[in-house]
Amino acid sequence: MNLGIVQSSPIFGEIAGNLSDCLSHMSQHTADLWVLPELFATGYQFLNATEARELAEQVPSGRTTQALSAYAAENNCFIVAGLPEIDGDKVYNSSVLVGPDGFLARYRKVHLFYEEKINFTPGNLPFAVVDIGIAKLGMMICFDHLFPESARSLALQGAEIICHPANLVLPDLAQRTMAIRALENGVFTATANRVGTEARGNESLTYTGQSQVIGPNGDPLVRLSLEGTEVAVVDLDVSLARDKFITKHNDKLGDRRPAMYHLQNQ
Ligand code: ACM
Repeated sequence: MNLGIVQSSPIFGEIAGNLSDCLSHMSQHTADLWVLPELFATGYQFLNATEARELAEQVPSGRTTQALSAYAAENNCFIVAGLPEIDGDKVYNSSVLVGPDGFLARYRKVHLFYEEKINFTPGNLPFAVVDIGIAKLGMMICFDHLFPESARSLALQGAEIICHPANLVLPDLAQRTMAIRALENGVFTATANRVGTEARGNESLTYTGQSQVIGPNGDPLVRLSLEGTEVAVVDLDVSLARDKFITKHNDKLGDRRPAMYHLQNQ
């Protein structure tokens, strides 16, 4: 199957323009599955919770999920993309999965980063896997990368590809951790990061690009530039993520000893 990642440079608050920018880049390529960055259509640096609420959309009825679904139907593909989601009085930093038949799943970021803790509610849905026929997909968002439990939860449920929309600002951190997440779980990971600088309020954030697809052995299949707006499509063999053996006696997931682990703080 073909997996595409989009590395974009959104302008804060310009939802329509950012959305059509991404879709027009995608339309120059063919992929079965696309991964777009976190908060790809709104931008990242909300000044406060009110601003996040004003730009948030309902899922799946909001315009971003609807536009992605229309693209997926027209182009017979699946898309994972990040957006601020409003549900009742809560605003989540979410991602959606849509396909040719419309909306399939949402994920609400569990591990909030920096001022996201002020602007969003932490995700309330457990990590989950969706079988799209050509692959089993898991979603996690940006800072979830630092918590090995995120990718592990997805791998233990059978994820073959972890889709990872991101807005990374700490240089070369997630690029390294995601290679380990791929290796230790024997899965593909697809990190779609953004580039550019957002200077809002008293702060200026520069996003670190280097979006990447990593194979189940931890090696990169592709890594994009630090600063460019780019798209990459890679051909991958999903069945490689089903073989967890590293010797004939060692299985990356099967050799785990859960009874020996302490996963709660003492
Ligand atoms: C991040 O979670 N956006 C770094």
